[in-house]
Amino acid sequence: MKIEITEDGFETIYSDKYRQTYHSRHGVLQEAEHVFLDGAGVKELIVNQKKCNILEVGFGTGFNFFLTAALAKKHNAELNFVTLENNLLSYEIFDSLNHDQIENAVFIRQHFVEWMTSLPENLKNGDYHFEYGKIKLTIKKGDAVKAQLNDEKYDAVYLDAFSPEQNPELWTVDFLKKLFNSMRKNALMSTYSAKGSVRRAMQEAGFDVIKKPGPKGKREMLVAMK
Ligand SMILES: C[S@@+](CC[C@H](N)C(=O)[O-])C[C@H]1O[C@@H](n2cnc3c(N)ncnc32)[C@H](O)[C@@H]1O
Repeated sequence: MKIEITEDGFETIYSDKYRQTYHSRHGVLQEAEHVFLDGAGVKELIVNQKKCNILEVGFGTGFNFFLTAALAKKHNAELNFVTLENNLLSYEIFDSLNHDQIENAVFIRQHFVEWMTSLPENLKNGDYHFEYGKIKLTIKKGDAVKAQLNDEKYDAVYLDAFSPEQNPELWTVDFLKKLFNSMRKNALMSTYSAKGSVRRAMQEAGFDVIKKPGPKGKREMLVAMK
């Protein structure tokens, strides 16, 4: 595992296990804003101060969460963010990444790191709750494939697993069906992947899928609607 700087100055992590970085090398911020906040329609919900239930596959460095939470704070919107992660990074790593540069995220990140230090070192699988004002985060630690999810709950899903080649269990029809069931009607799920096999698996799981222009460095990405 090593830290790399991406083109927009934000740091990401290279995973030896998955042989890829947690974010696009073309820029962490531009990817998160384009693929997830805009792609899954979350920015629009937050700007209009709609209470937002978001499910994320892969918490990683928490960048998507901090960016979403900072926007919710700016607009005084309620946010309920649930994320699935089997390999939670240490608080030292969260603390060392230069993600405080996200606009309005410094305090949330500081509180988060403080909260992380209060957790036991060898964290068991289970649900862990962090709160900051109107922002609620639940980390469901454990294999995402086995996570218990409420039906018809989420307004948006960030599908941010590693690539289908390296992280295949999070792109199967069965797993996508599980995400589908957890979403409200008309909710959007977005991902950076534009692979034909992913699109077909999403369709088989019940979604309507469209290709959209991708973030910098990628021609296309996928947005799926329930
Ligand atoms: C591309 S990274 C996510 C990046 C993250 N959203 C961020 O903003 O930094 C993918 C994440 O999925 C997690 N992951 C991979 N397979 C998993 C599984 N079966 N269950 C739960 N988490 C998994 C990895 O540990 C990694 O943190």
